[in-house]
Amino acid sequence: AAIGKGNYRHFMEKELHEHPAVIGDTLRQYVDPATRAVARPALPFDPATLPRLWLSGCGSAFLVCNTARYWFETLARLPVDCDVASELRYRDPPLTKGGAAMFVSQSGETADNLAAMKLLRAGGQSLVSVVNVPESTMARESDTTLMTVAGPEISVASTKAFTAQLSVMACLAINFARARGAIDAAEESRLTAALLEVPEHAAKLLDSSDEIEAVAADIRDARDVLYLGRGSMFPIALEGALKLKELSYIHAEGYAAGEMKHGPIALIDASVPVISLCPSGPLFEKTASNLQEAAARGGRIIAFTDEEGAPALRRFASRVVVLPKVDPFVAPILHAIPVQMLAYHVAVLKGTDVDQPRNLAKAVTVE
Ligand code: AGP
Repeated sequence: AAIGKGNYRHFMEKELHEHPAVIGDTLRQYVDPATRAVARPALPFDPATLPRLWLSGCGSAFLVCNTARYWFETLARLPVDCDVASELRYRDPPLTKGGAAMFVSQSGETADNLAAMKLLRAGGQSLVSVVNVPESTMARESDTTLMTVAGPEISVASTKAFTAQLSVMACLAINFARARGAIDAAEESRLTAALLEVPEHAAKLLDSSDEIEAVAADIRDARDVLYLGRGSMFPIALEGALKLKELSYIHAEGYAAGEMKHGPIALIDASVPVISLCPSGPLFEKTASNLQEAAARGGRIIAFTDEEGAPALRRFASRVVVLPKVDPFVAPILHAIPVQMLAYHVAVLKGTDVDQPRNLAKAVTVE
């Protein structure tokens, strides 16, 4: 049956509102709610002894890989190599037999992924794909397929598939961490509990879009927008910038907050909004001080944080958007939602073609 927009103006708006359900449905595939343990996924390798893991994908799916790299490294103490598939396919990296690669993709048809998979396969790596379409080519070409339960995604800009992919990768990181003896059962259940709370928080965010619409009005006439984040929030800053470019055609860049002083701070003046993803947690102070430096140079700081981070940021930010306070482990999943909503609302204000941005295709099946 044809998929409709229901009462929404665009598929993207409908799909944004599906975040809570999709995250919940995906987590239920991997976490046993009674024991709060991650069920052992069927994999072509043993995570306990895996020497290193390749992560790859394109566009937003690559940013999921980037976020997951922080999780696999910090939680599971697993060395990870992460690159966009269009580079990986030509990097020709030295490969040691017995390694493994995971490819993340909504469509499962992305040509660059398929080419990179072929290269890694020839180098003796086992292949896992994390896809949203079970009968896709990537699923067929992999040893194991792990599913996101996002349902069909029509809007060219990926939304709910992104948080579903993050949910799968978060579960895998917890499972690998247990298998490698890096965390105990108590830590596992603390982390899964944090994950299981995300759908409820996501629903609240989606219900209160007024503030995001106000930020959208603030930045709609900007020529350039900077997005900043640190640690696992850095890839979400990149996702915010990618979505804004894709949907509103405003030039946007994502930077690691600590890199500002190495160049981009030269761009700062009152006309460049600086959107920062700055939840409370171990990296908060560092990010906040980077933002303060930008504010001191006339930068217009728009900060996404939580109630714990808000007071410090209010001293110099022109706008502070307060999100629910969550464990830093799940903060990237939650923060992805308002940055996607922001890009949506800017596109609506600018009157661009939200579901079908110019020059883009939903699945990129050519090189
Ligand atoms: C995301 O909003 C983009 N439209 C794009 O970057 C997309 O994520 C990329 O082309 C990968 O597609 P895939 O997940 O189907 O492989």
